[in-house]
Amino acid sequence: MKKDNRKLVYVAMAADFIHHGHVNIINEASKLGRVVVGLLTDKAIATYKRVPFFTYEQRKQIVGSIKGVDEVVPQTTFDYIPNLRKFKPDYVVHGTDWKKGVQKEMRTRVIKVLAEWGGKLVEPPYTGGISSTEIHARKREFGVTPDMRRERLRRLLELKPITRIIEAHNGLTAHLVENVKVKERGIDKEFDGVWLSSLTDSTAKGRPDIEFIDLTSRLNTINQILDSTTKPIIVDGDTGGITEHFPFTVRALERLGVSAIVIEDKIGLKKNSLFGTDVEQQQDTIENFSRKISAGKKVQLTDDFMVIARIESLILKKGQKDALKRAKAYIGAGADAIMIHSKEKDPKEIFEFCREYNKFKNKVPLVAVPSTYPQVKEKELAKAGISIVIYANHLIRSAYPAMVKTAETILKNERALEASKNCMPIKELLTLIPGE
Ligand code: SPV
Ligand code: MG
Repeated sequence: MKKDNRKLVYVAMAADFIHHGHVNIINEASKLGRVVVGLLTDKAIATYKRVPFFTYEQRKQIVGSIKGVDEVVPQTTFDYIPNLRKFKPDYVVHGTDWKKGVQKEMRTRVIKVLAEWGGKLVEPPYTGGISSTEIHARKREFGVTPDMRRERLRRLLELKPITRIIEAHNGLTAHLVENVKVKERGIDKEFDGVWLSSLTDSTAKGRPDIEFIDLTSRLNTINQILDSTTKPIIVDGDTGGITEHFPFTVRALERLGVSAIVIEDKIGLKKNSLFGTDVEQQQDTIENFSRKISAGKKVQLTDDFMVIARIESLILKKGQKDALKRAKAYIGAGADAIMIHSKEKDPKEIFEFCREYNKFKNKVPLVAVPSTYPQVKEKELAKAGISIVIYANHLIRSAYPAMVKTAETILKNERALEASKNCMPIKELLTLIPGE
């Protein structure tokens, strides 16, 4: 850091969307001395809220150009303390908003640490009339381009220990995935993206999950989802069809801004994996399936699009050795990630696979779908080496019983009063989707 005689003033910010509140803080800070902005890195932001819209480098360029900012340095943790100890500023400047709420504790710690070298906290009044929630809502209205959406999955993989994906099967469920959020101890938890499940897409259309719903129909669902969320989309591509067709599917999805397709190494009449060996299912040869992966990889136009190879060896009781052999081959054929599927009641065989897989020299991210072993926590999966967790069918599975109950209650009572108690108010429904 360059030295001059002025006092050192530290201002931490994420600055994903700059507004006059940020400028006010910087103005006040610059009256006190040399302003060093501790700009939160993408990884630091991802630990407590949504991955930033702009990258660190882009944000750095913007913040660095604001009058009054002398230097921008990375703040690699949500916690201020490591940077404060490093730079020992004379002042920290922060708006009064953190006197209340989740940042209160951080404020106390900052004051205490500054006191070690006689530093002071300066708190200009918080700029009212600006809400980041409102900015985010506007951003959603503004939407995303296919290019921006597509690259988001790779960005998430870089920034988060585990990327959290849930199924959507129409515009409404995609709207839900976009908006549902839980706040816990200052951390915003939300889903990172959408899984377009063959099971739930087929079921929602009143069809079995046997690859009957064709690409045109799947694209129809994808278009509804694209309209209702800005988040990245992973498409369940079933077997990927015949090798000669697969490149056309890749092109169609890539063009729309889908981030990834998952194809499973089965041939013939595809049945849902969760039937396991109860139904006739045939696994593809390593050679054939590798050829299919390569055919898809060859035609994609961007570096962002991902072809994810799904291994069915554990589902079909072919053993770990077969699963690992296939993983190696599929990575060699160009797979950008491996989905390892299991229908066991606990994650033991998934963890066993991970342990051996982690010894590979040439690794790609791993994906898990804990439908039959739902007790597993995201932290445990991440620790084992899983990068993406997919909650593959939970929205439709919870919606259907609720609808059955409503229908039965109306039948029983020969009126709607009793059932209405379990329904959302009509006004809420009318305003659920923006633009009504
Ligand atoms: C799907 O969601 O359609 C899947 C995952 O393929 S599973 O149903 O668990 O096989
Ligand atoms: Mg499927």
